[in-house]
Amino acid sequence: MPQAEPFYNDLDLSLAEARKLIDGGAKDRRHSSHHPVVATIGKDGLPRQRVMILRALDWERRLIRFHTDWRTEKVEELASNGAASVLIYEPESKVQLRLSGKAAVQTTGSAVDAAWNEATLFARRCYLAETAPGTLSDNPQSGLPLWVEGRAPSDEEVAPARENFAILLFEFNQIEWLYLANKGHRRARWNWNSADHGWIGNWLVP
Ligand SMILES: Cc1cc2nc3c(=O)[nH]c(=O)nc-3n(C[C@H](O)[C@H](O)[C@H](O)COP(=O)(O)O)c2cc1C
Repeated sequence: MPQAEPFYNDLDLSLAEARKLIDGGAKDRRHSSHHPVVATIGKDGLPRQRVMILRALDWERRLIRFHTDWRTEKVEELASNGAASVLIYEPESKVQLRLSGKAAVQTTGSAVDAAWNEATLFARRCYLAETAPGTLSDNPQSGLPLWVEGRAPSDEEVAPARENFAILLFEFNQIEWLYLANKGHRRARWNWNSADHGWIGNWLVP
């Protein structure tokens, strides 16, 4: 019988593993956690999901940073209802993580400037889109000006795109863990306790 993973029956180690998975997504672009599904509540009250690239994890502040164009619908949605959820599935570790909390968008400030400066020219190019993402179009198009299609812009060329760039900060106060194993799955949930400044965890029936 193979040895169980050290976290299998240990809540603290499962939480540490969850943290490792989220952090792996921020550090390694080949990691499945690098592109989680982010859900918000639409203006019609219905759930809306999309894939986003996980840029950074700040575990102490329970913050995940994403990048987006402030003209996208999710930004307006979050302004009227900040509730958000992030779903990660890591097939290699057979772990599903469901994080719940709230998200807010920032377009100015040192954190936004730093994120913009860190981004590659190709990544910054997306924000050159001339009309808002999601705008109806009579023809198939990338939204980008023709002169920059198929190539990276220079620093100077991409500078005006800064005004479309935003960071989306997701603050989570609940983490749900599901680990799939032949010998029996494991499910747990932790809630952030701000009074004690710590996570309170419980096992759940998978
Ligand atoms: C692999 C992948 C990565 C993506 N990364 C981002 C991202 O980091 N930020 C973003 O705003 N949209 C990203 N998108 C596009 C979104 O999924 C979505 O289509 C877009 O943000 C518009 O969503 P909205 O209308 O819900 O605002 C990505 C899509 C894919 C398939």
